[in-house]
Amino acid sequence: MAEEAGAVQVEITEKRLVADDICLFELRSAESRPLPPFTPGAHIGVAVPNGELRKYSLCNSPDETDRYVIAVKKEHGGRGGSVSLIDRTGVGDLITIAPPRNDFELKAGPSSYIFIAGGIGITPIRAMIKHLQATRAAPFRLYYFTRTPGMMAFREEFLSSEFRGKVVVHHDGGDPDKAYDLWPVLEDPKGAHLYCCGPRGLMEAVRDMTGHWSSAAVHFEDFGAAKARPEDNTPFTIRLARSGESYEVPVDKTILEVLREAGKVLPSSCESGTCGTCRTRLVSGEPDHRDLALAEHERPRNIMICVSRARSPDLVLDL
Ligand code: FES
Repeated sequence: MAEEAGAVQVEITEKRLVADDICLFELRSAESRPLPPFTPGAHIGVAVPNGELRKYSLCNSPDETDRYVIAVKKEHGGRGGSVSLIDRTGVGDLITIAPPRNDFELKAGPSSYIFIAGGIGITPIRAMIKHLQATRAAPFRLYYFTRTPGMMAFREEFLSSEFRGKVVVHHDGGDPDKAYDLWPVLEDPKGAHLYCCGPRGLMEAVRDMTGHWSSAAVHFEDFGAAKARPEDNTPFTIRLARSGESYEVPVDKTILEVLREAGKVLPSSCESGTCGTCRTRLVSGEPDHRDLALAEHERPRNIMICVSRARSPDLVLDL
């Protein structure tokens, strides 16, 4: 993960469960200094006790300069980073974080905003909504989906009178047949900007339903779920059209990682297929697009090298 330099020591000043398996952490400067500022949609990197650096969205108001609030979901099938943060830290502990950065920025100017959050995907969206509530910049509507009511973080807040008429909550019980029908919401863009954060399946469904939107008006946030497990991948070869070099991409590495190891300097930001920074021209080969950034008409000639792979034995890139 490419985080900005300048690690910050913070103290855990509050820690409590806010939904099933979701723990809220309040973090304040260990030296009682103002924290680096952030904008709605930003995340911090957290050095968790098992040694990983994990990204967590800030879910409090960006107006609060004295604290960061994150909500962490215990991912039982994950790599253990979030579990270690929840199980092996307590109030009063000092932890190291990378300062905020934002790959999911709330753009100013649209006539309205639509937010779609699935599960823990509510976290960056809550900071955006806090900002819009405070500034009254434009009207918004939130569609917030969880499997059960107990899995809904900030439930009381979003069901309170403050959000009457602005928030739609839906629980599908884990049954895809009971998923909320978003088509009436997305059929006519009406000048809105859409922000979606949640499980990959929800984001892909939203992307499929917004093919007729301007790609500049649709924004996704994904914390690395797009990096498929090695067992889901096959190796392939990339050839660089300009230099003539070629490299093997093994099952456990991305194209971006392979090229960086070869000494290439390439731009990236989210490294999860949502921001568009690593877009590369594709010369030939059959890509396996795994991003959420490219529009359908862009896919034949472009590839996001941080997540996407190949269906053919070779891909030729315009590098
Ligand atoms: Fe964001 Fe690849 S770095 S899409």
